Amino acid sequence: MSYARRSLRTVLLIAVVILFVGMVGARRAPATSPRQPLPMSHKRHLDKQMKCRACHQGVEGEAMASFPTLADCMDCHKTPQGQEPAEPEVRVFAARGQELSWVLLNRLPGHVYFSHAAHVTLGRVKCEACHRDMSKVDQAPIEADVHLDMSACVACHRDGNASLDCLACHK
Ligand code: HEC
Ligand code: HEC
Ligand code: HEC
Ligand code: HEC
Ligand code: HEC
Repeated sequence: MSYARRSLRTVLLIAVVILFVGMVGARRAPATSPRQPLPMSHKRHLDKQMKCRACHQGVEGEAMASFPTLADCMDCHKTPQGQEPAEPEVRVFAARGQELSWVLLNRLPGHVYFSHAAHVTLGRVKCEACHRDMSKVDQAPIEADVHLDMSACVACHRDGNASLDCLACHK
């Protein structure tokens, strides 16, 4: 076999391998979240009658809902809770003195104005009107659990007689 044909065959083989790896990769392409420091289940905590605001303390009074600190978790996890294998990891972070750096999924573009307090407290809108019902979510949330596009905002504003003025939502 000539050198040219052999190298052509090599190139083809490499191309097929790249294509295959690419396809497998694409099929596995995570609809999952970025890596969070711990696998915490919303469902399990909400089953214990915890309130959203225990962990998202800004949600009633501020624009941002905010994330819990390790100290919030240690209120309960200083002693073992339940049987899940990931549970002791909370105390591993505490022993290292390492804060839990949660990865924020969704950011609205900078030209949009949004406030949790305006919706949750003034508008009495339930979390589930905008986010997935977290009491059913067993794994780390993904972007689809959070994101709202403009048509979703506008549809509810129309139904609820809230502002449809462009400048109410846009800076
Ligand atoms: C025990 C604490 C805890 C409770 C209770 C809790 N959350 Fe969370 N929540 C978290 C943590 C920690 C994260 C960070 C992501 C993760 O879970 O890995 C989070 C993430 C989220 C996110 C994704 C935010 C983003 O953009 O990254 C949403 C939405 C959310 N929570 C909604 C709720 C709602 C709604 C409730 C009540 C029904 C609730 N949470 C109750 C701890 C809690
Ligand atoms: C009010 C008490 C309480 C607080 C506060 C709390 N937890 Fe838990 N947590 C529990 C209980 C109870 C379980 C056991 C649930 C079960 O096994 O059904 C648990 C289980 C877990 C587990 C095992 C996997 C799972 O989700 O069931 C992890 C990991 C965990 N908690 C992390 C956290 C983190 C991180 C925080 C802070 C953001 C936190 N917890 C705050 C009570 C609490
Ligand atoms: C009217 C719709 C709406 C309601 C109601 C709502 N959220 Fe949100 N939430 C959003 C939007 C939109 C974002 C993304 C905000 C951004 O990118 O600035 C968000 C983001 C979050 C985040 C990520 C941190 C942050 O503030 O950006 C958490 C956590 C969260 N929401 C929890 C809650 C909880 C808990 C409730 C109920 C007590 C709730 N949300 C009610 C629309 C809503
Ligand atoms: C499920 C219903 C619902 C959704 C979805 C919703 N809103 Fe609202 N929004 C309301 C209600 C109700 C009010 C009025 C609150 C009050 O009583 O002041 C409001 C008020 C506001 C205000 C204050 C307006 C003013 O002039 O007082 C802004 C800004 C706003 N929403 C932005 C948004 C944005 C941005 C989104 C999408 C990311 C969104 N909203 C999604 C129901 C909703
Ligand atoms: C109730 C809130 C709300 C109102 C009212 C509103 N917008 Fe938006 N708009 C949004 C949100 C939220 C986004 C970002 C959507 C995303 O990130 O997917 C957006 C995005 C946009 C964009 C960027 C392109 C895009 O699709 O992402 C333009 C342009 C825009 N809006 C124009 C307008 C104009 C013009 C009006 C008045 C006729 C208006 N908007 C009224 C909430 C609103």
